[in-house]
Amino acid sequence: MSTRPSRDADTPVGAVADILRPHAEDLYAGELAALAAIDERPRPPGWLLSPWAVVRYILGGRVAGSDIDISPKYVGQQRLIEIAVATLATDRALLLLGVPGTAKTWVSEHLAAAISGDSTLLVQGTAGTTEETLRYGWNYARLLTEGPSPEALVPGPVYRGMQRGSIVRVEELTRMPAEVQDALVTVLSEKVLPVPELDTEIAAVRGFNLIATANDRDRGVNELSSALRRRFNTVVLPLPATAEEEIAIVSRRVGELGAALALPDVPAAADEITRVVTIFRELRSGATTDQRTSLKIPTGTLSTAEAISVVTNGLALAAHFGDGVLGARDVAAGIVGAVVSDPVRDSVAWREYLETVVRDRPGWGDFYDACVALEE
Ligand SMILES: Nc1ncnc2c1ncn2[C@@H]1O[C@H](COP(=O)(O)OP(=O)(O)OP(=O)(O)O)[C@@H](O)[C@H]1O
Ligand SMILES: [Mg+2]
Repeated sequence: MSTRPSRDADTPVGAVADILRPHAEDLYAGELAALAAIDERPRPPGWLLSPWAVVRYILGGRVAGSDIDISPKYVGQQRLIEIAVATLATDRALLLLGVPGTAKTWVSEHLAAAISGDSTLLVQGTAGTTEETLRYGWNYARLLTEGPSPEALVPGPVYRGMQRGSIVRVEELTRMPAEVQDALVTVLSEKVLPVPELDTEIAAVRGFNLIATANDRDRGVNELSSALRRRFNTVVLPLPATAEEEIAIVSRRVGELGAALALPDVPAAADEITRVVTIFRELRSGATTDQRTSLKIPTGTLSTAEAISVVTNGLALAAHFGDGVLGARDVAAGIVGAVVSDPVRDSVAWREYLETVVRDRPGWGDFYDACVALEE
């Protein structure tokens, strides 16, 4: 007999509850349906919601005049999200730009889920991305036996998005070679995708548009060509403005991730979250919060996303190998690992921070000891 925990009999395998990371449109299907039911504002052709409802879905909150309470997905300026959503209702595409970990991918997934009900039309930009991945490829067995035919054609995400009138996401646009990027120019300006092999073309159905993300730090890897840049409106997602905002983001995401990973319950660890965020913000800006001490800036990103993973890791350690309460020891290794990404230069910055800031900060003795113990 199996000793593994048995599955709930009425949960089918593959149900949302079983999936490690469900798509946004599945995870938040309830919220999206509730918004659609009360949304009486005009919807752009092909959109499942009005721009107003899309912004509500992203920013969350109680919907006035209803009992619907939407969970916030993005924490930050409402105006940025309004500009992003309005762009998608025009003939220009949207480029989300920012340093790593500023929720570019996260926002693009939720925008696609809310607008098209489908966030899966995705192209991952890498140095090896080809035009075929973007547009279409061929089933070579059929191509050889039958020659080019619609049946032998294997549509890519852009092709499918144009056909269905859906949002297509391109991740890390500037990592793709320039000539592959340029394949998007015709798509975005003419809204058609030529298929010369079949002597035809795919015309985009209303509702089609593109959301691309790019990383500030990749600038120079492949510059965005000016022809392509003109087809995009750029929205820059900033790092959280205040420590309070960043702490709120980390707490919320850690709670959600902990639930999704079914980590044993560890009491919400406000103190350690505040500590991680404080350290990351100080090292990122090169000065302590009180502005009295200037600091060496480490080479790593130390973004909100890293803070989230340091705390989530700490929770797993505390739950499985600790006393069930998130403490300094549980986050110390994660913090040092995130800060010291270049062993030579970053160790110096970290050591200096440890000795000049951490050691004498009231209430931080346990954390100092935990960090020193890591080096022994
Ligand atoms: N302002 C914010 N509001 C809500 N969540 C945020 C915010 N900033 C960061 N996050 C969280 O950070 C995590 C990482 O975000 P994401 O992967 O989208 O970053 P990214 O900008 O795409 O980074 P990269 O450039 O490395 O691809 C997500 O879990 C997201 O929820
Ligand atoms: Mg990303």
